[in-house]
Amino acid sequence: MSTRTPVGVPTYSEDLYSDAAILDPYPHYRALRALGPVVWLPGLEVYALPRYGEVRAVLADDATFRTGDGVSLNERYNTLLRGSTFASDGERHVFLRGLVAHELTPKALRPRRAAIETAAEALVERVLKAESFDTVGDLARSLVLAVVPDFLGIPVEGREHLIDWAAANFNCHGPLNDRARTALETAGNMAAYATRLVDERSPRPGGIAHCVLDALDDGKVDRDQAISLMLDYLAPSLDTTVTGLSTAIWLFARHPEQWDLVRADPARIPMAFNEAIRYETPVRQFGRRVAHDTEIAGVPIAAGAQVLVMFASANRDERKWDRPDTFDITRNPVDHLGFGYGAHGCAGQGLARIETHSVLAALARHVTRFEVGGERRAVNNVMRGFDTLPTRVRLS
Ligand code: HEM
Repeated sequence: MSTRTPVGVPTYSEDLYSDAAILDPYPHYRALRALGPVVWLPGLEVYALPRYGEVRAVLADDATFRTGDGVSLNERYNTLLRGSTFASDGERHVFLRGLVAHELTPKALRPRRAAIETAAEALVERVLKAESFDTVGDLARSLVLAVVPDFLGIPVEGREHLIDWAAANFNCHGPLNDRARTALETAGNMAAYATRLVDERSPRPGGIAHCVLDALDDGKVDRDQAISLMLDYLAPSLDTTVTGLSTAIWLFARHPEQWDLVRADPARIPMAFNEAIRYETPVRQFGRRVAHDTEIAGVPIAAGAQVLVMFASANRDERKWDRPDTFDITRNPVDHLGFGYGAHGCAGQGLARIETHSVLAALARHVTRFEVGGERRAVNNVMRGFDTLPTRVRLS
């Protein structure tokens, strides 16, 4: 037992970052939730928070549970993230978030909705002409690449790397395992690209990446901070949505009766997408650093300790959800934690929702059944998704 093992706190020694645990995390989540609200992970030397109540409470208390120097499970990435919106706290975080995120509010996005719906309809019609297609590559990635880079306003050159870089960013958040080590090198390429965007002033006016250049010109941020801000929106804007959309289609293939409910009433699509994010939460967990001595559910936690905020486990907590392991689009889980909660809650969820709702609506007009087979899951330290999802459809 490590000298750092806290006394009186249940311990879980399984490696949550092994390939097997990443491919099937749910038995681990169940075991962790059964052990208690706070569980010590000796391999990582962090406190896991597997239940809904504590995850939400910690996310709501961003003065105590801070992302700065604590959102990733390894120090190398925490150091690289310094200065970003994601890894900043308090007034600095509010200031940085305010420089760009106003472009992602429902009101700001409203004028863009029609163009995204048109792109989704055209893409779906094209994809459905083939006998079979890859939901990840042909549909989800194509849609996201058709929408997000233009929305950001970044040049065409270099876009082809964005998806791989984004996946690497999520791997970097894990403990310093082989996956994270390899990804740290790849993430360096994304940082070099963000540096070029700033130094060459390449984002076009009107795209949201231009807000970063405006902040630089107005003296609100320096060059290094501008590069971090650019990464704040390059890193989480692609792979997340690809994963959410592919996962939803995989779930509808496995639960055709739920797809029938969507087709019978497409107004259920927002509810259905929320349920897909609850049930198969794409962003499984992130860390937080404890600012001062505190307690969680009566367990004392010392200043400087790290906690693991387990969104995916919280979204299956039997204390919170009736039949948590049932995919049921009629439950409308608006308070799921798949987009986080509180100060760092997902800044881009409005865009992700428009993209995925548009594709699901277009599919609901044409497809009666999805059949999937031969899918390969991505093995990523944070993201739960697919590398490929071969798909056939029956059309109406
Ligand atoms: C299905 C798609 C998505 C999912 C599941 C998702 C999930 C999340 C989660 C769980 C967080 C909170 C992290 C935490 O509290 O530690 C987050 C934060 C964030 N997301 Fe997303 N996200 C998605 C799409 C997007 C998109 C499309 C963008 C950008 C256009 C985006 C930008 C951000 C940013 C900037 C933050 C950090 C906010 C802050 O620290 O204030 N996300 N996302």
